Amino acid sequence: MASPERGMWGSRMGFIFAAAGSAVGLGNIWGFPTQVGQGGGAVFVLVYLFCVFFVCAPIFISELILGRRTQRGAVGAFAALAPKTKWWMVGALGVMCGVGILSFYAVIAGWTVAYIYFTAVGGLGSSADEVSAFFGTFTASGPLTVGLTLGFLLVTAACILGGVRAGIERVTKTLMPLLIVLLLILAARALTLPGAAEGLKYYLRPDFSRIFDVNVLTAALGQAFFSLSLGMGALIVYGSYLNPKDNLGVAALWVILLDTAIALLAGFIIFPTGFSIEGFDPSTGGPGLIFTVLPQLFATLPGGALFGSAFFVLLAMAALTSTISLLEVPVAHCIDEYEWTRKKAVVVLIGVTFTLSIPSALGNGAVASLSNFSAALGGNFLGLMAIVWNNYALPIGGFLISIFVAYRFGLPKAIEELTAENAWFPSTGLWGFLIRTVSPAAILLIFLSAIWPLFS
Ligand code: TRP
Repeated sequence: MASPERGMWGSRMGFIFAAAGSAVGLGNIWGFPTQVGQGGGAVFVLVYLFCVFFVCAPIFISELILGRRTQRGAVGAFAALAPKTKWWMVGALGVMCGVGILSFYAVIAGWTVAYIYFTAVGGLGSSADEVSAFFGTFTASGPLTVGLTLGFLLVTAACILGGVRAGIERVTKTLMPLLIVLLLILAARALTLPGAAEGLKYYLRPDFSRIFDVNVLTAALGQAFFSLSLGMGALIVYGSYLNPKDNLGVAALWVILLDTAIALLAGFIIFPTGFSIEGFDPSTGGPGLIFTVLPQLFATLPGGALFGSAFFVLLAMAALTSTISLLEVPVAHCIDEYEWTRKKAVVVLIGVTFTLSIPSALGNGAVASLSNFSAALGGNFLGLMAIVWNNYALPIGGFLISIFVAYRFGLPKAIEELTAENAWFPSTGLWGFLIRTVSPAAILLIFLSAIWPLFS
C-alpha cells in the first residue's frame, strides 16, 4: 500500500510540469534530430507523428489510469489488479528499463554538462571539421566521460532523495519555460541562415519510398516511446501521485502535445543549421549530431558563447528532470515492494546503474572493442543499449500494457477511472478503439516486419 515514503503532487499543474519534465529531455533535443537524420528526414517525422498520436497516446493514458487506480509503482500496479498471475513481470521489465535507459542516458547527459564549459570558454574550434574533431576527442576520453556520468547520476540521486514534490516539481516549473524561449530564439536564427530552405525541404518533404522501411518504422516507434517516457511504468508511478480530482486525460494530452512540439522545434533548429554548413550529411552525424551542429549556430549569434553555454545548462536541467523519472521507477519499486527506505533504494540503484553505464561511456572511442559495433548493432555499446531498451523493451512493455488495460483490467473500469469525478475527455470511444486495436496491432506489425527477414 501507499507508504509515507511516497508523496502526492501539489496540483494538476504540478503533475503536468513533472510529467513534462520527465518527457522533455535528451530524447527531444538530442534523440529526435539524430533519429530523423538516420531515418531519412521527413518520412521519419511522419511515421513518428503517427506513432505518437495513434499508438503511444492511448498507452500513455493507460499507464496513468493504472497508477492512479492502484496507487502503486510499476510492479505493484499489476500485482494489485491481477494477483497470482505473471502480469507483474510487465512491471519488472519496466524496472529493468529504468536502469538500462538511465545507464546510457547519463553518459549523454554528462556530455551536455561538459559542453556548458566548452561552449563558454570557446575551445570548440570554428570550422565544421574542427568542431567534430573536438567532439571525437572529447568523447574518447575515458576517465573524463566516466566521471561526468557518475557526477550526473549523483546529482540525480540527490534530487530523488529530496522527495517527490519538492525535488521534481520546483526544478521543472522554472526551467522548462526558459528552455522553450531559448529554443524559439535558436529556431528563428536557424531559419534565417543561408541554406535553411534546403534543410526545411529535408525535414518536411517526405521521401515516401521509405515509408515501409522497417528501420524507419522501428526507430520511429522506439523514439516515440522514449520521448514520451512511455512503456516502462514511469507514468504508472507518476499517475500514482496524481490526485483523484485531476483530469487525467486532459493532463496527458497536454504533456504529449508539449513533448512533441519541443521535439519538432529541435528539428527546426538542427536541419536548417546543418544544411547551411558545407558538405553536411545528416545521416552520418550519429550521436554527435547536435554537439557538432549547434556550436556552429551559436557562432553566428552575438554573445554566442554565453548563449550556447546557457543552452547547455538548460539542456542538462531537462536531462536531469528525465533521469529523475527514470530512477524513480526502480526506486518506487523497491520502496513499495521490499519496504526499503528511499535512501537505501537510491544508493543501491545508483551503484547498479553506474556499473552498467561504464561500457556506454567507454564505447565512444576510449575502448576500441566497445566502440566499433556493426551498424545493425547500433554502432557501439551505447547505440546497442539504445536499440535494446528504446526500440524493443519499451514497445514490448507498451504492447503488454495496452493488452492488459483493454482485455484484462477491462475498458469499462478504465473509462470509469479516466472520467472519474466527471472529468471531461474528448472521446472515450476513440480511446477505447485505439487501445484495443490500433496500438497493439501497430506494435505487433512493426515487430513482425522487423523480425521477418530472419525467417525468410
Ligand atoms: N523521455 C525522456 C527524454 O525524452 C527520457 C525518459 C525519462 C524516459 N523517463 C523515461 C524514457 C521513462 C522512457 C521511460 O529525454
